[in-house]
Amino acid sequence: MTHNIKIAPSLLAADFGNLQRDVEMVNNSEADWHHIDIMDGVFVPNISYGMPVLKAIQKHATKPLDVHLMIVDPDRYIKTFADLGASVLTVHYEACNHLHRTIQAIKAEGMMAGVAINPHTNISLLEDTIKDIDLVCIMSVNPGFGGQSFIENTYEKTRTLKAMIHGKRAKTLIEIDGGVTSKNAKALINAGADVLVAGSFIFKSDNPTQTIHELKEILS
Ligand code: DX5
Ligand code: ZN
Repeated sequence: MTHNIKIAPSLLAADFGNLQRDVEMVNNSEADWHHIDIMDGVFVPNISYGMPVLKAIQKHATKPLDVHLMIVDPDRYIKTFADLGASVLTVHYEACNHLHRTIQAIKAEGMMAGVAINPHTNISLLEDTIKDIDLVCIMSVNPGFGGQSFIENTYEKTRTLKAMIHGKRAKTLIEIDGGVTSKNAKALINAGADVLVAGSFIFKSDNPTQTIHELKEILS
């Protein structure tokens, strides 16, 4: 029943001392995208990594780069991330004063435009932009850190968003980010998710390649 569900391992949970090895693990696995979390210490209470590290990742990555910006005023860097090879560029709803303009600017650089929403942000706020958005990233944890536990309200949000997408005849993909494991993956897909991001569950497992394979099996 499931259509082409994508898995996007989050490199935030990789071993940064062995970044090339971990990027290559994703290359050689059944995963679909590399999920890259950029945090500025202002929008979220943590700083991850920035452009030079993304450049190093890009050098080795063979799959599309799904870049998740947890930064204030992301418009400043849209061109920069396009030049760094991002295929999907996701900005936070809460960080944009002129979201419609930001979405158009991302598309004008040839990238898929993503909008992430925090756990407290209501889906209905996307009603007027949904047809323009290529991907909505529903945060299933408060952004800023890997390894947090999944917020159960995410299922309801996913169902509500899926209904809105259908109702508006939009083609938007739904991505779920935070606390994804083999325990909630199937239910998320049943609720309408298209892309699952997983960090700790993959990289902290004994055999990340096998864990990705198992996630794919659950979803097939
Ligand atoms: C959280 C990040 C996530 C994070 C997910 O702010 O956006 O992408 O890396 O990590 P896990 O899967 O460990 O919750
Ligand atoms: Zn993320």
